Amino acid sequence: MNDPDEDAIRSAAQFLKNGELVALPTETVYGLGADATNDQAVASIYEAKGRPQFNPLIVHVSDQKSAHQYVTFNASAKRLAEQFWPGALTLVLPRRSDCTLSLLVSAGLDSVAVRVPDHPIANRLLTLSGVPIAAPSANKSSEVSPTEAKHVIQSWPTEDTLGPRIVLNGGACEVGLESTVVDLTTQIPTLLRPGGITKDELERVVGKLNIADGTPDKPRSPGMLARHYAPSIPVILNATSARPGGALLGFGSDAKTPTVNLSKTGNLREAASNLFSMLRILDSETYNSICVSPIPNTELGAAINDRLRRAATRKE
Ligand code: TXA
Ligand code: MG
Repeated sequence: MNDPDEDAIRSAAQFLKNGELVALPTETVYGLGADATNDQAVASIYEAKGRPQFNPLIVHVSDQKSAHQYVTFNASAKRLAEQFWPGALTLVLPRRSDCTLSLLVSAGLDSVAVRVPDHPIANRLLTLSGVPIAAPSANKSSEVSPTEAKHVIQSWPTEDTLGPRIVLNGGACEVGLESTVVDLTTQIPTLLRPGGITKDELERVVGKLNIADGTPDKPRSPGMLARHYAPSIPVILNATSARPGGALLGFGSDAKTPTVNLSKTGNLREAASNLFSMLRILDSETYNSICVSPIPNTELGAAINDRLRRAATRKE
């Protein structure tokens, strides 16, 4: 039972390729995985977790070479990857301009957190699916991280259709603690979250680390990060039309001549999957403001509105 057969991993790989969620064991904790290049699949992770915010997600890849497709490594990043991958270390690195990962995995940052897990099932799944896997810990937003398959099933009983299509059972996680997260986009590497690899172990490889503000239990909120993306023009919420010279980011069929529409059918998952890319499209020299149609504050709407409110308060 602790060793799902090849067929189970194969079906999980197929679910991922179809844009569906799967739960997978890693050496740290169980992850709720989706194809990291598929906007809608990534949006459904946030939907399943019921988070009122878009926190950036860790993208799991097979090896360092695969990570190079999406992010750029400096010398410290290379040293850390060589020393600790596969393993319980997540590196936050600058997104490449040609990065094909969903913008939602970065939740508006210019960086991506990447990790090569050290678990035969996770690694087999990466190989069979051939896609990078975005995976936060497989728990709902207020719950603790799952270290056994049954914890995942407790979070999403079978009648909960938002949960994973399959839970691969790999037994108890060996590390049982989330990965250590290190930000390498800062001059001196910054420890964002303590975890499976200790600060001392890291400092032996790259020298002194900065420690992010906040406590170990409450890592620095991604929303507070300086490089968090916000449009450079004013954003006005709950609008019914564009302002002169401005754009209208619509939602639903009522939106009057939207410049672009987050979801014509009023589907919140589709809206979430389009949010970051559409904000970027409208934040151009063509427009002087972005008006946004009202978005219901239910389910994923809460996270969408949270993001839009931040974008709006930045500029007005
Ligand atoms: O061990 C783990 O890391 C597990 C397994 C499944 O890999 N995953 C996990 O994911 O704990 P999650 O989403 O629960 O935590 C990810 C952490 C969060 O603190 C998030 O803010 C941070 O990583 N993070 C992700 N991307 C980031 C980015 N681009 N910049 C800064 N922090 C980032
Ligand atoms: Mg978590």
